[in-house]
Amino acid sequence: TIKIIMDTDPGIDDAAAITMAINDDNIDLKLITTVAGNVTVDKTTKNALKLVRFFNSDIPVAAGAKQPLIKPFEDAARIHGESGMPGYDFPEDLPKPMNKSAVEALHDAIMASDEKITLVPTGSYTNIALLFSEYPEVKDNIERIVAMGGSLGKGNMTSAAEFNVFTDPHAARIVYNSGVPIVMVGLDITMKALLTPASLAKLPELNETGRMLHDIIIHDGDNSDSGIAMHDVNTIFYLLHPEAITTEDMWVDVQTEGPAMGETVGDIRGAYHDGKINASVCVDIDAAAFNKWFINEVSNISK
Ligand code: BDR
Ligand code: CA
Repeated sequence: TIKIIMDTDPGIDDAAAITMAINDDNIDLKLITTVAGNVTVDKTTKNALKLVRFFNSDIPVAAGAKQPLIKPFEDAARIHGESGMPGYDFPEDLPKPMNKSAVEALHDAIMASDEKITLVPTGSYTNIALLFSEYPEVKDNIERIVAMGGSLGKGNMTSAAEFNVFTDPHAARIVYNSGVPIVMVGLDITMKALLTPASLAKLPELNETGRMLHDIIIHDGDNSDSGIAMHDVNTIFYLLHPEAITTEDMWVDVQTEGPAMGETVGDIRGAYHDGKINASVCVDIDAAAFNKWFINEVSNISK
């Protein structure tokens, strides 16, 4: 099993990623930490707790950063709704978040693990940047960071920037320069692996989890006739099925200013970094395999 921690801002696609991570036996999800992103951190924390409660899981949830390191916070409620996870009535009796901050919880869980942890951020990387600044020793017990965010091609917030990196470009820069290997799961693949209308229509027939996911996914403001991008779910798919995704190793820089603020610049020609690499960038994906896996994954869940 792959030991992971998710740092997340649910968020519709985050909710689907958490669903897979909680329920797949090949993944051992140790901790969920939350960050401001799609909606405020109070809401993303509540949403993470709703999912933990829905699956009767005992995975701890710790609340993290309320805002990016430097840039003012801007949410994405226009895509994810006011609550961040609209459309389904979750139980009201929610468990409590941990009594410690995301940074403390990340530090404690990473240091306590007998095997190296894979970090899976699906929001902006503020908590991880703070963690690395405060406790650099955790890096030795991190296998790698499989991060949704960034794009070699165009952005989805500005022409250059993807939302998670745009939200906190300074944090992204710290993480990309941290020395910890990164798998960049960006728009280059997430905009290819759309959940098709046919897959979406199947979900409610599968089980209660399928109904829950269907009911929230149909509220995703980022949809098209060919399907809905399940950005964050691609991280979990990559962990379980790397053979369905093509990666290229390179150095990735993050722009923190100007019209390209939040852009992830992949040095595809090795022009600036002498052949050094800090990231494996996902550049292609088998979209049919992704859809098949998504449906199969949900149908295997007992609820
Ligand atoms: C990312 O932005 C968020 O809105 C999604 O949850 C995903 O993490 C895609 O750009
Ligand atoms: Ca997200």
